[in-house]
This record gives sequence, structure tokens and C-alpha cells, in this order.
Amino acid sequence: MALQLGDLAPDFEADTTLGRLRFHEWLGDAWGVLFSHPKDYTPVCTTELGYTAKLKDQFEARGTKVIGLSVDSVDDHHGWSKDIETTQGVKPNFPMIADADRKVSELYGMIHPNASSTLTVRSVFIIDPQKKVRLTLTYPASTGRNFNEILRVLDSLQLTDQHQVATPVNWESGDDVIIVPSVSDEEARTKFPNGWDAKTSYLRVVKQPGS
Ligand code: BEZ
Repeated sequence: MALQLGDLAPDFEADTTLGRLRFHEWLGDAWGVLFSHPKDYTPVCTTELGYTAKLKDQFEARGTKVIGLSVDSVDDHHGWSKDIETTQGVKPNFPMIADADRKVSELYGMIHPNASSTLTVRSVFIIDPQKKVRLTLTYPASTGRNFNEILRVLDSLQLTDQHQVATPVNWESGDDVIIVPSVSDEEARTKFPNGWDAKTSYLRVVKQPGS
């Protein structure tokens, strides 16, 4: 069965551009973003990996480690990195897993045989410091992902883990949030002493805690 939200992210050992690593050990106490791309030396993937490298500071600010994966070799990853640097202005500054034997791809369900029997789809997993899967996302090979959205989800997860709030449609960090329905008005008066805007009894909008 495919990995689901709340599942323990499977541990594995793999060769990467930064040497061999054990996934859980490498993650340590950090949040993690594990993402697959279909193939090295392909155009959409080239733009995705360059952009992700540009977000290094953004991921670090969120205490998050990023790791990529495809079924190509470490040598191919290194060779392709030069093209990424030439065309995107920055080379990958995170490890890239060489999953030639597809062990990790199969563990994480990154190969969808009816899309391609040999290549990984564009999967993303956000993993929290307890090693639980908190987001899964699958895009087709022909559609590059929006990595700003991954940052946005990290912001939402990290906020909502700390406070009993949820984030509404198109929310960005700093925007108003929603008090979760499990919090009664009585509890909310203690947690949100500055009050909230009750659009309905269940849609209670409040300033983002800490903003
Ligand atoms: C690409 O990255 O451009 C790509 C890879 C596999 C299939 C289609 C596009």
C-alpha cells in the first residue's frame, strides 16, 4: 500500500552524491524533504533542481534538510550537476540519491508503472522530526513542481504543530489563520485573548500566533 500521512517514513541506506548515508541518521532531528525526479539530463528536472538549490537558505530557516533521488548513477548526478550550474546558476547543494536498484523508489512508491515502468514520477515527501510522513505529493513527469509550495506547507505544518490553528486556502506565513473546530469558544478565549472574527460558529479567523 502507498505511504500515507502519519506513516513512519521508511529508513534506508543509499549511495548519494555526498557518499553513502542512512536516511534517518542523516535526518537527525531535522524536518526532511525527500523528492524524486524522473531522470538526469532532462529539461524540467534541470530547472527543478536548480531552483531547489536556490532555496537552500529558506529550507535551512525552517530546520529542513532536502534530498533528491532518481534511478541514475552517482556519476551521472555529478556530471549533470555541472549542467544545472551552467544553466540555472547554481548546482545542487543537497545530496542526490543514486537509486539504480530502485530500492528506495519502491519503498516510497515513486515508480508508477502505468506512467513509466522504469522512471520515478515527481514525488515529494515531507517528513517531520519524529520521522512521520506529513505530506505526499505526486506530479507527472511533464509538469515541474512549485517548490515555493513545499516551503508554504512546511510553514503551515510547523505553525499548526505549535498552535491549535489551521491555515486557510492560499495562506502564506503572516496571514490570518483559523482556530481548529476541536477548540471550544471557552478554550479559545484563553488561547487567543485578543479575540477572533467568527464568520460562522466554525469559521473563526484569528491573527497568526507569533506574527
Ligand atoms: C524533464 O525533466 O524534462 C522530463 C523528464 C522525463 C519525462 C518528461 C520530461
